[in-house]
Amino acid sequence: MKRILITSAIPYINGIKHLGNLVGSQLPADLFARYHRARGNEVLFLCATDEHGTPAELAATKAGKPVAEYCANMHEVQAKIAQGFRLSFDHFGRSSSHQNKELTQHFAGRLAEQGLISEVDEQQVYSHTDGRFLPDRYIEGTCPNCSYDKARGDQCENCTKQLDPTDLINPRSAVSGSTDLEVRNTRHLYLRQSSLRDTLNDWISKKTDWPILTTSIAKKWLNDGEGLQDRGITRDLDWGVPVRKGDAAWPGMESKVFYVWFDAPIEYIACAREWVDAGKGTDWERWWRTDKGADDVSYYQFMGKDNVPFHTLSFPATILGSGEPWKLVDYIKSFNYLNYDGGQFSTSQGRGIFMDQALEILPSDYWRWWLLSHAPETSDSEFTWVNFQADVNKDLADVLGNFVSRVTKFCRSKFGETVPSGGSYGTREQALIADLQTRVQAYQTHMEALDVRKSAAELRAIWALGNEYLQAAEPWAVFKTNPEAAAAIVRLSLNLIALYGQLSAPFIPDAADAMRDAMGLPDLQWPESVVTALERCHAGDAFTVPENLFAKITDEQREEWSDRFSGIRS
Ligand code: MF3
Ligand code: ZN
Repeated sequence: MKRILITSAIPYINGIKHLGNLVGSQLPADLFARYHRARGNEVLFLCATDEHGTPAELAATKAGKPVAEYCANMHEVQAKIAQGFRLSFDHFGRSSSHQNKELTQHFAGRLAEQGLISEVDEQQVYSHTDGRFLPDRYIEGTCPNCSYDKARGDQCENCTKQLDPTDLINPRSAVSGSTDLEVRNTRHLYLRQSSLRDTLNDWISKKTDWPILTTSIAKKWLNDGEGLQDRGITRDLDWGVPVRKGDAAWPGMESKVFYVWFDAPIEYIACAREWVDAGKGTDWERWWRTDKGADDVSYYQFMGKDNVPFHTLSFPATILGSGEPWKLVDYIKSFNYLNYDGGQFSTSQGRGIFMDQALEILPSDYWRWWLLSHAPETSDSEFTWVNFQADVNKDLADVLGNFVSRVTKFCRSKFGETVPSGGSYGTREQALIADLQTRVQAYQTHMEALDVRKSAAELRAIWALGNEYLQAAEPWAVFKTNPEAAAAIVRLSLNLIALYGQLSAPFIPDAADAMRDAMGLPDLQWPESVVTALERCHAGDAFTVPENLFAKITDEQREEWSDRFSGIRS
């Protein structure tokens, strides 16, 4: 039994995420967690909300709520939607937890002791009207690179260039719009990650099995020197983890908090403590401290490509720099972007389909299947309503759903609702079993390699084998002359439904449950051998005909939805 730690990039608290966010981290992480649990491995799957920083504060201001209250509410909202998508987190934590506060302050203290923190006097924009500094997204202005006039203080959304607030032309406060601004001196802590450049380089160079997307981004930042500039890890804000050196005060830093990208990844660790404190686990250090058992843990992270520099460089710099035996990530699975109907999904512009809206129109399995089978692994991919309708109708309704319904209904009409006896398997059946054995093996290999699309393609092919078999074996015709032979065909097909119920569960957990329930086998274990797996529905066992697993998406529905989601979410 392996021990597998899985984290998904923790979503910002500032609103409901869109389907592009979902397929870029939480959903593939869930696929992987479900697969490994099904294989009998010990899995700890963690996610949380990312609650600090200017995105949270600005969203709370916009909602007219105190930021702590806003975060508490939005955490509940996101948790509920995650359940709706059947995301099987062992714990869904909060980066604003006291556990994360302590751990973040602990890491800062350790880094200071190791000589990896410097205090730097820098210039930040201060707003007289707002009576505060305006870091990151608190300030907007014109991008010096592309002239986009809504560039933010941390980055230009239009040309993606990373910016400092003082780079902006015609800056204004994002809160009040005020231009009564002044550049003031303020002292901040910097993480001297540049001194860890060689260590990080060595570490990443050994990761030859990582996706190219991950290593190419990491190496670009390492070698351009861009990402390994020392990094400011504090801000002049009220909301966040107060700057302390472990549990001691940090002179001069009393009114400051850590930068959100410093405390957010530490929440991966703190979340395991939250999991224990919530009574769901007993020992978090066993997962996170290599001196306390975590040396035999395999740790996988999932994220969109924009998150890669923070996970390949900054967070490892925090871990390695601490000089303590924390578990480092073993494998980073990163994703490109999913686009929406010829443009980008955008939270700030309300463009695309958001997770709550998706669940209003269709059950989660439809989305899970389509998104995972189109995961943007090697390049960006695109959601269009036409493709969505075509793929879902074909894969889920025509191939899988239709197979289940034909087999169970035919059996009920000819043999009743028990697995029929009689007949035996011939060459066609042996060939099918051999094909299945090969494909199931390939499915497992792809799953273990985290090849999401290839896994989906293999599963689809496994479903298709059932249909092809039924088409060729023709039990409805055979029944007329040889009911015993038809019984054998049906018995094998019913067993296939149970097999599908197991194999499909990581992708479409609800339909998989329905298939296993219908076969009266809710607790099936993973099929170590297809031969034995196809002998679990015995002659005489009762089954039920499930409700139609998947309804087809009609043209009217497609048009209605494509209209409804063509604009901007208000
Ligand atoms: N909140 C970030 C985003 O949505 C991800 C943070 S991941 C973590 O892009 F590592 F910082 F936790
Ligand atoms: Zn720009």
